[in-house]
Formats: sequence, structure tokens, C-alpha cells
Amino acid sequence: MDSEAPPKSVTLTLDGTNKSITLPLIQGTMGPPVADIRKLYAGLDIFTFDPGYGGTAACESKITYIDGDAGVLLHRGYPIEQLAMQSTFLEVAHLLLNGELPNAAQKVEFDDGVMRHTMLHEQIRSIYQGFRRDAHPMAVMCGVVGALSAFYHDSLDINNPEHRRISAFRLIAKVPTIAAWAYKYTIGQPFMYPRNDLGYAENFLYMMNAVPAEPYHVNPVLARAMDRIMILHADHEQNASTATVRLSGSTGANPFACIAAGIASLWGPAHGGANEAVLKMLAEIGTVENVKPFLDQVKDKDSHSRLMGFGHRVYKNFDPRAKILQATCHEVLAELGIKNDPMLELAVELEKIALHDEYFIKRKLYPNVDFYSGIILKAMGIPTSMFTALFAVSRTVGWISQWKEMMEDPSQRIGRPRQIYTGATTRDYVGIDARG
Ligand code: ACO
Repeated sequence: MDSEAPPKSVTLTLDGTNKSITLPLIQGTMGPPVADIRKLYAGLDIFTFDPGYGGTAACESKITYIDGDAGVLLHRGYPIEQLAMQSTFLEVAHLLLNGELPNAAQKVEFDDGVMRHTMLHEQIRSIYQGFRRDAHPMAVMCGVVGALSAFYHDSLDINNPEHRRISAFRLIAKVPTIAAWAYKYTIGQPFMYPRNDLGYAENFLYMMNAVPAEPYHVNPVLARAMDRIMILHADHEQNASTATVRLSGSTGANPFACIAAGIASLWGPAHGGANEAVLKMLAEIGTVENVKPFLDQVKDKDSHSRLMGFGHRVYKNFDPRAKILQATCHEVLAELGIKNDPMLELAVELEKIALHDEYFIKRKLYPNVDFYSGIILKAMGIPTSMFTALFAVSRTVGWISQWKEMMEDPSQRIGRPRQIYTGATTRDYVGIDARG
């Protein structure tokens, strides 16, 4: 029947007038239809208001699909569960960047391409000396990643596909080195040069933990767990930092500057800073007896405090990444022989109580990926201040894939939101003597 056919358009009428506009409904390959409002202002002289962009698509993308209600996360169509358990981070990087999983020959070429670019220009070492020793690694990352554009002039033509490809390799390859060196700098240890014979996650752990004075062997269980954490953080559709990268890139800014902007956006505790905030919160709660009073405080609107690692803008049932990490968490703790870690016991208790609490149930607040990643990273000996930096290392792949997709989209134009102006109406300047 005709009435059952999916609607192709939506009509808006200005109340009390005979003015209306019919807007096309665009249907993606998955997900709900989207009203194309590009002609709305010209047609009806009105804008739309959507602070936080909860109901606004800012771009078309073929990279990642999320169904928040069903707890589904797909990269190029592949479920995150399959990628996390069966793939590797560099394979997922190839998938995000190029659209397909690599075949055997492509895999060798891609992995070599990334691992060949892991070293930093030697002059970049001296940039680190300009930071205080107690600088937060994210501050260092914003600065050093942004500074890459001052070193790699030969790949800055954003309209040249080969330049875009090389910049992507450089970014993916160099961010682990930049992050690991940010850590080494704060603890006063020598920078460890990357080892290209190691896997991507393995090399990161090596640069973080090794010292030149003795050999260092990366535990393969921990390398695998790190690789999985990286896969789970690689991309997540149009989140705040990715939207920042796209918005910066829409002006024609170079990719290194755009990724630095993404890192700045990721830093906030409502986004990538949440895993660090989870650990700080657990330390603040201290003991299991304090869980209940802490939850009471969180539920009190006036306290302005939140249960960090809980809730998500899109996932309103469960975060599929959190489920995978919950299992990984147990693997890592078993490998490390951690049985009675007080902070872990606290986290488990907090999770148990919150999941049964009316406040959290009613608002569909579940543990997100950061709740478990913080606990795993702590168990692995990664310092809390490095958690968000590690997230930035993983998400660089998503950012640069989204940036590349945008640059290849002929319809892309500068991003420029509108506003509802609520300030003073037009008034005349008054000289200082005449002001009350
Ligand atoms: N603790 C307590 N209450 C919460 C929490 C929380 N973590 N998250 C949301 N709420 C409450 C809000 O107070 C609000 O209650 P109300 O309806 O009574 O006013 C309701 O739930 C809806 O919250 P919103 O702020 O509208 O949800 P939004 O989608 O804007 O926020 C966010 C999502 C930022 C992730 C939020 O849940 C939060 O701050 N969580 C803690 C930080 C965190 O873990 N961030 C990581 C996100 S995942 C990532 O970036 C990888």
C-alpha cells in the first residue's frame, strides 16, 4: 500500500500563514531518514536550533555507523566485536582510511608504510625542552602534533591525494612516539626511539616502558590488550573531537593542525578525559563504604558532579565497547596476577550499585568505554595522566580518515553554524561621561 511506503519528504508550514516548504528526506544505507534543511532559510526565512547537535547530521560519511539504542557500532559495516576480537589495530586503520580490510600484500605494504614513519624529525626533540617537566601529556601532544606542520612541508598540499596519504601515514605513525616521549619527558627518562620490528601497540608499550640501559620485553598479553583498546577507540562517528577535526579541516587548514584541534577537543572530561576522571573519582571515593554517599551526591543536581565513565550521548542501552573491555579487564588482571586490587573492587561495587539504582536506570546511564579502559590501563601500569593521550593516539586514525573523507567530498564547504541572537538590540554609542 502507498501509505506504507517510506516518506520521501517532510513539509513544514509556518503557523498562521500559507507559507510552507517541502524538504527532501535523505535515506542513508542504515539509520533513520534525515530532513535536508539546506533550503529552509531561503524558503521560509527561519533557521533551526540544535545546540549540542543531538538531531543534526553535519556530513555524509561511509566510515562508522552507530545505533545507540541497539548498542551497535560498525566500522565500514564490520561489527566492533568482530574487529576487536579478530583484527589488529593497523588492519582497522587500513579499513577506516581506505574502506576495505587489506589483503595479505596490502597489509604488508600498509603496516610497513606506517612503521617506516614512526621516527620524529630530530629537531622535534628540542620542542619538548620548552615544556615544564610537569606538563600534562595532552598539552604536549596538542603542541607537538600541531608543530608537525612546521616540519613536514612536503606533504601539506591538502588538494594533492598523495600528500594527504603521506600526512595520514605520518600522523598515525608518529603519534605513539609523541605520546610516549611526552611521558618520558615528565619522568626525566631518555626518549626511546621507536622499534619498527614491533607491532604498533607493542612498540608504544616499548617506548613507554623501556630504558636504554637494559633489554625490555613487551608482555604479549598486554600488547594484545593495548591493541584491542586502540581498536575500540579508533573511531566513533561524529563525536566532539571528530566534529572539531572536520570543522577545522573545512577551512582548508592542514591535517596536522586539524588533528591538534581534535586533541584539544578530546582533552575535556566529558569526552576523552573521562577515563582519567574515572580514576580520579575512584581515588576520591576511596572505600566501598563511601560509594553510597558519593552516588547521593551525584544524584543531587546542585552538586554538579557526575559519575564519570557512565552515560553516553548516543548509547542509551549499553556501550558495545564497554562490554568487550569488561572481558579484557579480567584477562589483563589475571595475567598480571592482580586479585584484590582495592580500586578495582571499588569500581565493581560502583558499577553494581549504579546499575540497580533508579536514577541511572531511568536516565539510561550505563558504564561507557572509559569506565573499563581506565581500570585496565591502571593495572597495566600506564600512568593516569597518559590515559587521554593514549585515547588520542588511537583516535588519530579515525580523525584522519574522517578528514580524508571530507577532503574527497566535492560538496564539502566551510562549516559555519548559525545562532539565535539574544543580546542587546541596536543602540547608540554613549560617551564615557554620559554613562551612568
Ligand atoms: N552521572 C550522573 N548523571 C548523569 C550522568 C552521569 N555520568 N550523565 C548524564 N546524567 C544525567 C544528567 O544530569 C541528566 O539528568 P536530568 O535529565 O535529570 O537533567 C540526564 O542524565 C541526561 O544527561 P545529559 O547531560 O543530557 O546527557 P548528554 O548526552 O548531554 O551527556 C555525557 C553525555 C557527556 C557523556 C554524560 O553522560 C557525562 O557527562 N558522562 C560522564 C563523563 C563521561 O564518562 N564521558 C565519556 C563519554 S564516552 C567518550 O567520550 C569516549
